[in-house]
Amino acid sequence: MKPVAPTRTKFSTKYWETGEHSRFTNTQESAVNYSIIASARCAIHQLTGINNDAVVEQVLAEQHNRLADDPRQTTYEDSPLPDTPEVRAVTDQVAAIMHGIDPRLEPSPFWAHILNPGESTMYHAHGVGIYPGVGLSWVYYASFSEGSGDLIFICQLNEERVFHGIRPAVGRLVIFSANMPHMTERHAGEGVRVSVSGNYFLPMKTTLDVMSGETTSKVSEFCG
Ligand SMILES: [Fe+2]
Repeated sequence: MKPVAPTRTKFSTKYWETGEHSRFTNTQESAVNYSIIASARCAIHQLTGINNDAVVEQVLAEQHNRLADDPRQTTYEDSPLPDTPEVRAVTDQVAAIMHGIDPRLEPSPFWAHILNPGESTMYHAHGVGIYPGVGLSWVYYASFSEGSGDLIFICQLNEERVFHGIRPAVGRLVIFSANMPHMTERHAGEGVRVSVSGNYFLPMKTTLDVMSGETTSKVSEFCG
């Protein structure tokens, strides 16, 4: 019998035109029944009842106080998050959602992210080499205008580099694995783009128990 050549699924990297969906596109119908062996997830929520104009104004009042003076640092676009009722309205809703994912999650410091036209944020991750344990990162968009920079997740799956874009929107909250590398596209729009971010991590003992199978956590479902 003539051997059958293995069918390889090809994936398009022509992904830049659209956002808010996976840019990991199957361009060839595969004859192979395959199982997913690696995956990662992000969760998207729309928060309500937030005074976004006030959040933007309060964040911009701290824009002179960058967390890094060196533009080669990924925290160059970051600044301290003001402790105000309007900002707490965001972080309280985030805390409730995180509690619903796993009540053992503990908050790590939060920060603000300001992107002016022409700026971008370099490739980075929050959980690798910075904080131990299994964790989740979050970003909330208090302002966004067309073209001011999608959130791009980047990971490697076998021989393919996978890009997954999320188009921000005012009021949108995105939760993802703290180990997921990501970047922000260059701001090619108008106006200032303001978001609020932070991390939540499981305690180290819980992390070890999750890794050993002693316990389970929904946090793992984000990590692929
Ligand atoms: Fe980030």
